[in-house]
This record gives sequence, structure tokens and C-alpha cells, in this order.
Amino acid sequence: MNKKQIICNAILALVLIGCTTKSDITIEDFESGTFDGWTVEGDAFGATPATGGYQGQQNVEGFSGKFLANSFNGGDDSRGTLISKEFTIERDYINFLIGGGMHEDTYIELVVDGKSVYKSRSVVESETLQWMTWDVRESKGKSAIIRIVDNQRGGWGHILVDQIEQSNTEKSVFMVDHKLVFEADKKYILVPIDDDAPESLITLDVDGAVVGVPMYIRVAQTEKIGYWVPIDIEKYKGKKVTLTFAHAKKTDKHLNDIKQSDTFNFNYNEAYRPSYHHTPQYGWMNDPNGMVYLDGEYHLFYQYNPYGSRWANMHWGHSVSKDLKKWEYLPVALAPDSLGAIFSGSAVIDKNNTAGFGRDAMIAIYTSAGKSQTQSIAYSTDKGRTFTKYEHNPVLSDPNIADFRDPKVFWHDASRQWIMSLATSQTITFYGSANLKEWNKLSEFGKGLGSHEGVWECPDLFPLSYNGQTKWVLFVSINPGGPNGGSATQYFIGSFDGKTFKADDMDYPLWLDYGRDNYAGVTWSNVPAKDGRHLFIGWMNNWDYANSVPPVDFSSANTLIRELKLVHNGKYLVVANPPISETTDMRRDGEKLENKQVEKTYTIEKLLKDNQGTYEIEFTVKPKNENSFEFKLVNIKGENIRFVFDLKKNILSVDRSKSGIIDFSANFAQAMINAPLVTKAAYKIRLFVDKSSTELFVNDGEVVQTNQVFPTEVYNSLTFDVNDGSISVEDINIYNFK
Ligand code: FRU
Repeated sequence: MNKKQIICNAILALVLIGCTTKSDITIEDFESGTFDGWTVEGDAFGATPATGGYQGQQNVEGFSGKFLANSFNGGDDSRGTLISKEFTIERDYINFLIGGGMHEDTYIELVVDGKSVYKSRSVVESETLQWMTWDVRESKGKSAIIRIVDNQRGGWGHILVDQIEQSNTEKSVFMVDHKLVFEADKKYILVPIDDDAPESLITLDVDGAVVGVPMYIRVAQTEKIGYWVPIDIEKYKGKKVTLTFAHAKKTDKHLNDIKQSDTFNFNYNEAYRPSYHHTPQYGWMNDPNGMVYLDGEYHLFYQYNPYGSRWANMHWGHSVSKDLKKWEYLPVALAPDSLGAIFSGSAVIDKNNTAGFGRDAMIAIYTSAGKSQTQSIAYSTDKGRTFTKYEHNPVLSDPNIADFRDPKVFWHDASRQWIMSLATSQTITFYGSANLKEWNKLSEFGKGLGSHEGVWECPDLFPLSYNGQTKWVLFVSINPGGPNGGSATQYFIGSFDGKTFKADDMDYPLWLDYGRDNYAGVTWSNVPAKDGRHLFIGWMNNWDYANSVPPVDFSSANTLIRELKLVHNGKYLVVANPPISETTDMRRDGEKLENKQVEKTYTIEKLLKDNQGTYEIEFTVKPKNENSFEFKLVNIKGENIRFVFDLKKNILSVDRSKSGIIDFSANFAQAMINAPLVTKAAYKIRLFVDKSSTELFVNDGEVVQTNQVFPTEVYNSLTFDVNDGSISVEDINIYNFK
């Protein structure tokens, strides 16, 4: 060979090496239309691979060829596992297509030499499969199996997998188990959030020991950052703190912007933050939980996501108030654990130490929402500052009921036991206990009564007196199925004998608040006897659109605190819920206006000198000859909210279709919001406005409408309109609020 030939041969050899890059090896593509070679357990995957979605499933897309493994056979509640036969790892990567839910118990697992090496779930809740890649270079030559597991019931409790192949190229744009490591020397790790980004699943560990359970965080992936959230790391100073992303995209813009900081601005983007209603400091809030009074403090816990303004990662947030007017933020009270997220529940003061955690211990009873919903307890002997979870949790479970939650507990003196009201799908089940640890079923209520158009949630059973007689009232929140769509709270009036609740014969469903934004509310426990009031607070939102309302760095407020009373409205008994008397102390200054006889129209041009959108207007309307009338709040842009008293149809309607920003949800402002009205000679009105909320109380809370609004300027005028005849508007007062 001459020199030239040698060079030519060398080039040829190089080209050949390049060409012989090893080809992909298909582990499984399910194209045989059978599960041959797999061990099939349970029924979730069916008898053969699927050809797309099953009945009741959204369109399944992005799989390869004709078949895929889909565990939706039998719906989300079915469970099952596919186990592959053994194969040898011969390439650098394993690529596969994956979709379905993001639950801990819907995953694909790689087991090498009997040890679990990867456990991966879909990166978003989606029926569109996407490529994912495992880097298996360290396992080359070893023997492996793959398990595809669906051990999860309920929403998104399924997995989709297809086209599992060994390859020397990575197909995924995701990095699996991507780590960010910090030597902790500041208070927080700040994470940029975009509410429209999919949730990343992030595990926190300190010096290698995992803390809590993984967090679902919508880490910003594109240029767009909505706001930031802090992860508190102060107590780990001097240690190595690692955030492991189950998957991160290589193209994510902000992974390296996640940083330590000693400061975090808790208050920004505040346009719609109410000033005299309770809100979370930042993050997402839903149901009020565990309201209890102890030693001069009213505690208010709440469903809370500290890592974003959308529902996820349910904790119990915590606030306290000495006067039911001002709230102080306390650290999170309960965080998710291996039994699940911390869903709604209640708190009691164990005066006689029935549970053995100490006299006057504060005991929280809540739902652990994990694979199934079970009831757990936790106790505090330092006035709610810290809680210890009971070591033998859960204290109550029922594997046969998927919606099994929201325990509300009270001490029933007559039967000498704790009573728990629990939402059990479409009924309320009552349980009794001597010690809060062992519970026995007493009775079940609700079949065929009231509204059943949605899931029953957040019950509360309590006595109210009427004309010296004791009546028992049962609250049941329902979603959807409210009188005006979405979430609302219905109630029943009857008797309770320590075992069974019997509803009086009334025209159910009855609703506490006909507005669209008062949900999941219950009463305070342990209110001092000398006070004796039944204090109520609700979540001022609706599941129809709660996850898309405009505010970003915090989401949701609670209603004004209200006092529950049984009154007769002229036709039947109702639970009135006027604001508590303390509310009037929050008036800062006011203006009293002249009485006015209105024919056609009357406008109060300027509501207040210093109008910040936080005020109360009160007045009494006396219609002549039962004339219908309306009044509306209007801003300089013409945005308005109307309150229409139709005395012919006996309906009070609220119209927020022109109230400001409404386009974030098709469900927000599409229809009039109606409440039944009993004709009266006079309507005493109190209308509270607090930036993004309106609460209308008619005749001391006999009829109530709570509705959110998002005006782009404050409403600064009030107009009355009468079509025929006239009304007299009297005792008009406008108060600025603190
Ligand atoms: C009601 C509810 C409860 C549940 C909680 C979860 O709004 O669905 O039933 O415990 O929210 O955050």
C-alpha cells in the first residue's frame, strides 16, 4: 500500500465506524396487539394494548403506530401493573413515550439487577404522549426489567406508555432527576413562577435526606415570569440543600435563576388585594379550616399552596386574630406527608384530655388525601404554634368511598362524645368517638334530599336557637350544582339526637348565600359561652373559575365573618348570615346623605372623597306599590355591577357581565345571579366592597349575595333606577374602610 492508499483506507475505516453507530433496539412497541412477554396484573391495562383512548377519556395522541399501553381501561379508578421480561442494557439511553397523570403512583420504573434505578411519571397531566429518556450508561451490560404501574384512583389516575427503545441518542428534551445544589446560607430559595407553565415535580433534600414530599411547582420555562415564591431554608443554614426536578426541559430559561435570597417581597401585584378581608400573605388559598378560639385568639387555618397561586400541594396555612378584624400570619401549621396532602378539616380544644395529648390541647382533625382519602389528627400544646401528627394516623378510613373527607368535629354534651360530620360522596356520615382516635359510624344522612348535582363537601352540624327552641342545622357544600352554577353551600334544618340528624320537611335545597363566591364555609369552635355566637367564614371563590382569576401573587380572600341566626323571612325559616357586629368598627369615616324619593333615576356621583375601593354603603329602600328597582355601582370607565330587585318575579339578581375583567373564564359572568326574594315593605341594604369583592346583605342577612368583581378602576358612583312608580331611599350612609 502506498501512502495515498493508507490514507484512503484510514478515511474509509473512520467513515465505517461512523456508519456502524449501533442501531436502536425496540424493547416494546405494543404493535403485536398483545401483551405477550409481559406479566399483566390488575385490570387497568385491559387484556390487550389499547388503540387510543377508552370511553370517557379525552383524545389520546402522540403514540406511535396503532397500539399503546393505556391504564384507563375501566376509568381512572382501575389499577394494574405491566412487568416486562428481562433484557440486557446495551445502549446509552432508554427512550419511551409517556403521558397520563403525574401522581406518585402512576409511573414507569426501570429495575436493574433487582434495584429501582428510575421511576418516572408524565411531566404534565396530558393525554398526549411525549418522549422521555433515561440515561443508562452506568447500567450497561446489566440485566433489567421495566414495570409500568397504575396504583392510583381518581382524577388522572392513569398512565400511557409506548415505544420503549434502547438507543445511543436521547430523544427527550427533558432531563430526568435534574439537580440544583445550594450551600444554604440565606433565608429562602426563590423560584420564578408562570401560572401557565406545567407543574414541575421537585424534591427537596438536606444533606441527602429528603424533606417532606415532592412539591408541584409551575416553574417559569419561557421568558414570562408572573411572580416568585420562596422556599424557606433558614433552618438548613450551613447544609447542602438540593432541589431535584423529576424532569426539567433542557430549554428551560430560568433553572439557573433559581437563587438564594435573604429577602422576599410578600406584597406586590396588589391591585385586587382586599384591605379588610382575610387573604393569604402570598400563594393560593381555598377552604377555611380548623377555626377555633383559644385564650384570646381566634385561629383561622386554610387550604394553602405556598408554592404558587393555583391549587396544589395542600397545606394548612395559619392566621390568628384577637378581634376578628386584624389578622396576623403564622407559619404553615400542617404540611403534606406520606399519607397525602392535608385537605380540609376542623379543630377542637380537648378540655378534658379525652385524647391524652394534654388538657386543653388543640386538636386538628383533617383529611389525608393520598392514594385514598382518610382522616388524621394532629395536636398542639402551644396554642397552635406547632402541631405534632398522631403516630397512628389515619384514625378513620373506608377504602370503598373515594370522596371521603372534610371532618368537622364537635363535643356533644348530651351524648358525651365527639361527633364527626364527614362528607361521604353524596351523603354526610356521622361518626362518634370518646377520644378522637377511635370512631364508630352513627348514621348517614342525605339520600334523595337536597341538591345532588355535585360532590358533597365540607359539612358542619351545629345547633341554633329559634324562639327559645333548639334546631340543628347541617351545612353541606356542593360542587358543582350551586343555584347559580359551580360551588355553593346548601343547608338543612332539623333535629339531632346524638346519633341521627333528621331534616324538617322543607323545600330543599336551601342555600346560605346565592352569590357565586361563598364556598366551603363552616363555623368556629370553642367560641366562649359569654359570646355564644355562631361565627362563620367562607372561601370567597368558586371552583368554576378559581384557578384562573386575575390576581397572581396571591389567590383568594375569605368572606366577611358572619353570625349565623335562624330567622323567619315571612314564608319559612332561613339561616341568616349578617356580618358580625365588629365589622362596623372597621369603618374609618363616613358620609350621611339625604333621604331621596326616586322616580326614574338618582345617582350619587361621588361615593367618597378618598375612594380606594374599600367601603360599605348602607341604605333602606321602600318601594311604593311593590315597584321593581335596581341600583348599580359604576366606575369612570362605565364598568358596573347591577343589583336588580324584581318584585314581580320575587327575584334579586346580580349582573356582573360588565363589571370589569371577566374574560378569564367563560363561566364567570355569563348569566344573572339569582336569589329568591320575599316581598317586604322595606329592604335594608348593606353592600360591602373591598377591591375585588362585593357582599350584599338584605334585611340583616336574610338574603345574601357574595360575588367577586375585577373592575379596572374603583367603582365610584351609585345609581338607582326605577322603571315605573317610585322608591324612597332612606338612611343612606357611605363608610370608608380601614
Ligand atoms: C372543597 C374541597 C374539599 C377538600 C379541599 C381540597 O373546596 O374540595 O372537599 O378537602 O377542597 O383543597
